[in-house]
Amino acid sequence: MKLTSAKALEMLENAKGKTKDDGWIYHSICVGNSAGKIAKALNLDEEYAKTLGYIHDIGKSVGEFCSHVMNGYNYLKELGYDDEYANICLTHSYLNNDVNCTAGAIPEDIPFRTEFIKNHKYTIYEKIINLCDLMCTRVNVTLEKRLIDIMVRRGVYENTVYHIKEAQKLKKEFDDMLGYNVYDLFPDVINN
Ligand SMILES: [Fe+2]
Repeated sequence: MKLTSAKALEMLENAKGKTKDDGWIYHSICVGNSAGKIAKALNLDEEYAKTLGYIHDIGKSVGEFCSHVMNGYNYLKELGYDDEYANICLTHSYLNNDVNCTAGAIPEDIPFRTEFIKNHKYTIYEKIINLCDLMCTRVNVTLEKRLIDIMVRRGVYENTVYHIKEAQKLKKEFDDMLGYNVYDLFPDVINN
């Protein structure tokens, strides 16, 4: 079953007030809107990019925040949505086809997840969500500000520099594709 951006937004609206903190809902809206902007600038499917952005953290609505990656994947599969939507719950946190390339500590080894990330060919849309997740708190911020925000909250680990370098590479990939700095699409990042 296909998911629309309207339905994904409705799922976020329904989750308001039901988890320990609604911050992730505003973050998800920011990721979806930002993904739509980048997709449009690259002549890609804006609606699809928005949908993936809105839904990427939906696992936070159905369990512990720390387990949101697997929970989101299983939840969307159970609801009957196509793999491409469930997959974004898995892929959004990991760069470079590596579960260790993530913000925060090296995650516990969940064999299904480790293998999935290793073997999955990331689509351009999944990469857009990777980037937007790293450029959104509740509002658009620079990658650097977001990475520092995560480090302050979650600490610095042996994989932190690796993750930062891959995040910078990802941004450069989009700067090159666009032919200008991706921040030009988000003038607010200067003040936020
Ligand atoms: Fe996120």
